[in-house]
Amino acid sequence: MSGNPESLIRKLQETRSLEEAEFAELIRQRTPESARLLADLAVAERKRLYGNDVFIRGLIEFTNICRNDCLYCGLRRSNTALVRYRLTPEEILSCAEDGYTLGFRTFVLQGGEDGYFTDEVLIPVIREIKKRYPDCAVTLSLGERSRESYQALYDAGADRYLLRHETADRGHYARLHPPGMSFDHRMQCLRELKEIGYQVGCGFMVGSPGQTEKELAKDLKFIETFRPDMCGIGPFIPHHQTPFRDMPAGSAELTCFLLSVIRLMLPAVLLPATTALGTIHPRGREMGILAGANVVMPNLSPRSIRKQYELYDNKICTGEESAQCRGCLETRMESIGYRTVTARGDAVREA
Ligand code: SAM
Ligand code: SF4
Ligand code: FES
Repeated sequence: MSGNPESLIRKLQETRSLEEAEFAELIRQRTPESARLLADLAVAERKRLYGNDVFIRGLIEFTNICRNDCLYCGLRRSNTALVRYRLTPEEILSCAEDGYTLGFRTFVLQGGEDGYFTDEVLIPVIREIKKRYPDCAVTLSLGERSRESYQALYDAGADRYLLRHETADRGHYARLHPPGMSFDHRMQCLRELKEIGYQVGCGFMVGSPGQTEKELAKDLKFIETFRPDMCGIGPFIPHHQTPFRDMPAGSAELTCFLLSVIRLMLPAVLLPATTALGTIHPRGREMGILAGANVVMPNLSPRSIRKQYELYDNKICTGEESAQCRGCLETRMESIGYRTVTARGDAVREA
């Protein structure tokens, strides 16, 4: 196995690949200098394919009702203190209308695993968005469903699906989830989404309780082989009504380091600087872009329910209107020499 961080970074740049043990070594031995080198190379790759453009995605958090009980998440069903809501199809369409006016050309419908949103309820909503805004992409982030359901939603017009794998390590998965939830099923869902033809996003939290370089190295190796179109990574942040309430949050520094690794590994991947990164550091999203990310996801949900989509404590953007978040991110991106663009923003396909 090759040694110091710089030689590992050069190997990654040349081959787009490292052994799992090398990924772990790269993380363990990282220094501010190696992080800077990695970020410089990652930004060069991103600029080669996407210039200084940052894609914006309008996030519509349409239900906070969830049948699952993930130990880290504030929406888990055991959190009885949370006031639950679900938007009506009309309210979802009204968010999309606001978003279109604000220049969004991708709508991300995200929610808990809420049994109310059957295919029969979702299909007309997806069809209507695609009919009204044929120049837009619809991204779904609704958790685990059957292959038939994924297919039906795809046939209705959905283009992309975000399903973070959460961790590629079976043992770690079992520490983060209750016994009823299955690592194999999550992975199966990801494979099925790809087979159906969605542009697929996987991803994980940085600094989830019990996570070490070994688990992170598995995540990176999984991403290298799965080759997602999108990859969502953000720091774990504790929520006061979950079993992980006293656990430390993940760091912005390590999140940015991993964003750079992923950009270098998959140059064309769509990589968001997440809201969680903006929550643990006031300039977290800018730092994410400067590490190699190229997507931001401002909130389009009605302001009245935003505080109730509380995955973790102190989530930002819960008091603002959609137009404020849109404007805020534009200014933030301009402050670091980037521009937000209203294109649909599909991944570039490299030969
Ligand atoms: N229910 C769907 C699912 O689980 O795929 C979509 C919504 S879920 C809230 C979206 C993502 O939020 C999860 O994949 C998880 O990685 C992230 N998340 C949940 N709790 C978090 C926490 N405490 N800190 C950071 N991210 C968290
Ligand atoms: Fe539900 Fe998703 Fe939260 Fe898990 S992460 S409890 S599936 S909303
Ligand atoms: Fe929401 Fe800054 S992005 S207020």
